[in-house]
Amino acid sequence: MIRLGAIASLALLVSCAAQPVADTASAPLQSGRDYHTLANVDEFRVRHLALDLTVDFDARRLAGGADLTVERIAGAGRTLVLDTRGLDVASVELLAPGAAPQPLAFSVGAADAHLGAPLSIALPSDLAKFTLRIRYSTRPEASGLQWVAPAQTAGKVAPFLYSQSQAIHARSWLPLQDSPQVRFTYEATIRVPAGLRALMGAEPDASSGLDGVFRFDMPQAIPSYLMAIAAGRLEFRPIGGRTGVYAEPEIIAAASREFADTEKMLETGESLFGPYRWGRYDVLILPPSFPYGGMENPRLSFITPTVIAGDRSLVALIAHELAHSWSGNLVTNATWRDFWLNEGFTVYLERRIMAAVYGPRRAAMEDLLGFQSLEREVATLPPAEQILAIDLRGRDPDDGMSEIPYEKGRFFLGWLESRVGPPALHAFLQDYFAHFAFQSISTEQFRDYLDARLLAQHPGAVTPAELDQWIEQPGLPATAIRPQSDALIQVDAARAAFLAGARAPADLPHAAWSTQEWLYFLGNLPESMPRAQLDALDAAFDLTHATNNEIAFNWLSIAIRNGYEPAWPRLEQYLESIGRRKLIVPLYSAMMKTQDGAQRARAVYARARPGYHPITAASLDAIVGAP
Ligand code: BES
Ligand code: ZN
Repeated sequence: MIRLGAIASLALLVSCAAQPVADTASAPLQSGRDYHTLANVDEFRVRHLALDLTVDFDARRLAGGADLTVERIAGAGRTLVLDTRGLDVASVELLAPGAAPQPLAFSVGAADAHLGAPLSIALPSDLAKFTLRIRYSTRPEASGLQWVAPAQTAGKVAPFLYSQSQAIHARSWLPLQDSPQVRFTYEATIRVPAGLRALMGAEPDASSGLDGVFRFDMPQAIPSYLMAIAAGRLEFRPIGGRTGVYAEPEIIAAASREFADTEKMLETGESLFGPYRWGRYDVLILPPSFPYGGMENPRLSFITPTVIAGDRSLVALIAHELAHSWSGNLVTNATWRDFWLNEGFTVYLERRIMAAVYGPRRAAMEDLLGFQSLEREVATLPPAEQILAIDLRGRDPDDGMSEIPYEKGRFFLGWLESRVGPPALHAFLQDYFAHFAFQSISTEQFRDYLDARLLAQHPGAVTPAELDQWIEQPGLPATAIRPQSDALIQVDAARAAFLAGARAPADLPHAAWSTQEWLYFLGNLPESMPRAQLDALDAAFDLTHATNNEIAFNWLSIAIRNGYEPAWPRLEQYLESIGRRKLIVPLYSAMMKTQDGAQRARAVYARARPGYHPITAASLDAIVGAP
């Protein structure tokens, strides 16, 4: 589509819209270069965004305008290129104070499978700083939005909308430089049907909500993947002075009980990592189709309801999303290759928060469970996928999601801690967060800072070769510090006694077991088990009807690989009621391994798919087949 404004020439547009889309994997990789944006971020930077959007549930569409304030940072080019994916752009205007808006020529280029389509805008001159108004609307299938039908919510009476922008889905609901190295402040006006509440990862205006109009202000500069919006039938309940829960009325009591320790976690985070720089920390409970456990949207983490277990056993998720307030949101990965700086650091901080709030026994169990997941991932992933600083050129950055950035990153920091001593590493991290606050950094920038501010003071503590091995090589280095959990050693003994027939299930020390002990018990049962043992476990503990979703996941995995039919109705109900990828993708994959399982997988998928998020459906289409 080409539209011409008064000034720009078509020739200019066409010549400048040709951007390199994806470099070949053989070309040397440039540190700090974002291969997942089509925007010309080296010439221009978006500094501020003013959004005005109407939420249309019937049309499943956001429509309105985005005013982008942009600064030139290099050159004299006259084309600004932004990222979009499936946006319908109606007009682009240059806004100047005291003058009428000036229409500008723009074109939307061909779409790349992963990156979306470049929106090229012709500027009338070599402006140094300017504000553009882009009028646009989204498509119902926008990859970064889920339009949830009333039937898929807790209350079943009103629809629900939420965004998931990480990694590169923000471009499917707003035109911008969708790169983690561009930070901007924003303000927004969001219009929703009367009776619903709109939320963003921003400060709500106190007068908001009258007549379905909500205003937000985000004074801290954020990268685009942290742009977040939600709308639904939502209530608020405070937890502490700076923390609270937004949820549908049907689940708000359970949610606020479950997450009652959030204020304590926030205080703990500040004492360990430095000041909390975002004002409030609230959580929003999403419908069960949310594809992730949680998303660290600033000021307002988005959280799956599948962790509301009734006993706070799965709240490490909150510690994790909160920890991103330092690692990720404050100091941000410059590119998706550097994702481990976000996630590995965050898992490390998460475990420190858990140890401080719930004690070292619980943290050690979670740490060992994480280490085991890492060992299993290392045993199965191709070597190129096991590298912390992973090359994701030409791929969807969501493919970089594995235990590698998370747990290998966490155990890298654990290893570093063992070499320089905890006090030195802890002090270093506080300095790191202060030094790079509100900046985006690459793996190499981190290494330079590490060399200068930690390793120079501890000569001989680690060698450059060891660092290379951790960061650039596949595998889990033998020098990794394996977590020690006395509690889980006892579970090993109990499991061995059960498997040897020396102890009946009822005689296991299960009464004292926490969720983590159950996960370890179940997660380390043999691949294949006799039916009698499965019957005995199920008879003693009714695992088929476990209400803890992580325990149920483990049991259902066991049931699938052993053909344990009594679990089938529960398995189907589980797959139809939960859309969190980590909990359902492995179950579908396991089912696809047998002919009978594949048949059941396809049948349940046909029923469940309409309720899944577009990105969950996309992963499952590849595994189960599109219905
Ligand atoms: N930032 C991630 C979620 C994410 C990563 C979304 C990459 C899209 C692309 C979030 O902080 C996260 O890590 N969530 C985990 C939970 C955690 C406890 C490991 C999840 O959702 O499983
Ligand atoms: Zn995370």
